[in-house]
Amino acid sequence: MTVQGPALRPYLPSDAPRLAAIFREAVEELTIDEYDEAQRAAWASAADDVAAFGARLASMLTLVASENDKAMAFACLEDNEMIAMLYVHPDVAGRGFARALVDALERLAAARGATTLKTDASDVSRGFFQHRGYAATQRNSVMRAGEWLANTTMTKTLEPVGRPQ
Ligand SMILES: CC(C)(COP(=O)(O)OP(=O)(O)OC[C@H]1O[C@@H](n2cnc3c(N)ncnc32)[C@H](O)[C@@H]1OP(=O)(O)O)[C@@H](O)C(=O)NCCC(=O)NCCS
Repeated sequence: MTVQGPALRPYLPSDAPRLAAIFREAVEELTIDEYDEAQRAAWASAADDVAAFGARLASMLTLVASENDKAMAFACLEDNEMIAMLYVHPDVAGRGFARALVDALERLAAARGATTLKTDASDVSRGFFQHRGYAATQRNSVMRAGEWLANTTMTKTLEPVGRPQ
């Protein structure tokens, strides 16, 4: 039996409202154990201005993961060196959507010449990135809408892209 992963495609401007909703729900429901209510509200407020949120997504290489043609997760590669966003809708959390997205971004970055990738991992995603071979290099506190949130800069050396056989 072939186990199919989610369908991946590039971001379209019309995705902005759905991806803003995924962002908000991921923050509000999946980060409860690591961030308090005020911190989660401050973090989620980054998607309140959907037009600005969409413009930020469009400024990066953003991939969308769908199930039954409905967007369920997304991830962004910034400047071919940083995974800047990774958000999974709570309905599909733990089902490999984040893995499929980051696999694809790592391959794209390597194909475009990157030898390392970094991310500022939330305390929720730190285990996910560590599991993929990212190593913590620095602990950070960032201000978001008046609240301090902790994250960890992590880096990974990418496999060189193989030549076709
Ligand atoms: C972090 C997040 C993207 C992970 O999504 P997910 O749906 O649980 O991830 P996946 O199901 O794709 O996980 C894939 C792999 O990572 C592993 N993994 C996931 N979380 C892990 C953890 N905390 N520790 C160790 N491994 C973990 C899984 O076991 C799985 O391993 P496998 O590939 O060997 O089978 C999701 O929880 C989320 O959206 N969190 C809220 C927003 C957030 O913090 N985003 C990151 C901002 S930097």
